[in-house]
Amino acid sequence: MAILTGINKVKTAVFISGNGSNLKSLIKFSKSSKSPISIRLIISNNSKAKGLNYGKIFRIKKKVINFRNTKIFDNKLISILRNNKIEMICLAGFMKILSKYFIRKFSGIIINIHPSLLPKYKGLNTHKRALMNKEKYSGCTVHYVNSRLDSGKIILQKRVKISKNETEKTLTRKILIQEHKLYPKAISKIFNL
Ligand code: GRF
Repeated sequence: MAILTGINKVKTAVFISGNGSNLKSLIKFSKSSKSPISIRLIISNNSKAKGLNYGKIFRIKKKVINFRNTKIFDNKLISILRNNKIEMICLAGFMKILSKYFIRKFSGIIINIHPSLLPKYKGLNTHKRALMNKEKYSGCTVHYVNSRLDSGKIILQKRVKISKNETEKTLTRKILIQEHKLYPKAISKIFNL
């Protein structure tokens, strides 16, 4: 296997809005010589996102962009991504829906991680809904992003068994642990590694 250094790795931006535990797992993954990506930028639409701290800890450039006006938001984002030569975007708990215009304008790869077995439970409150429907399994999915919510082509999924006394909290934790493994695997798969 080829050794990948920072120079030939895919320049990646991770978009977050909250805790950033997936961001942390992606940063760790990116530091391995087997990883095809190098994380150059963290973008958040929330200045209070805890995950922004990882920018400080791992010395990765971070930007908060939070314009209500979509056109201004999109254009600002596009110019930041261009200036940093970003080739791939990993959405990791980014709570803002990217516009059609933005998706068309950005020429690189955009992927997302979602805490359900898509196409089931698109959108929010996935664990709550899976429990309410008495599902036996749930899980997580990494998929390409298109202009329809949580609907792009699936790259990888991991199934998780729902136990008898499962609560939203325990299921969230259980699935999150799998998310941290699945996201790096899906990225390797994209680049045939
Ligand atoms: C994860 O469950 C992810 O699948 C969803 O939002 C959550 C983000 O968690 N899109 P974190 O910020 O990575 O800890």
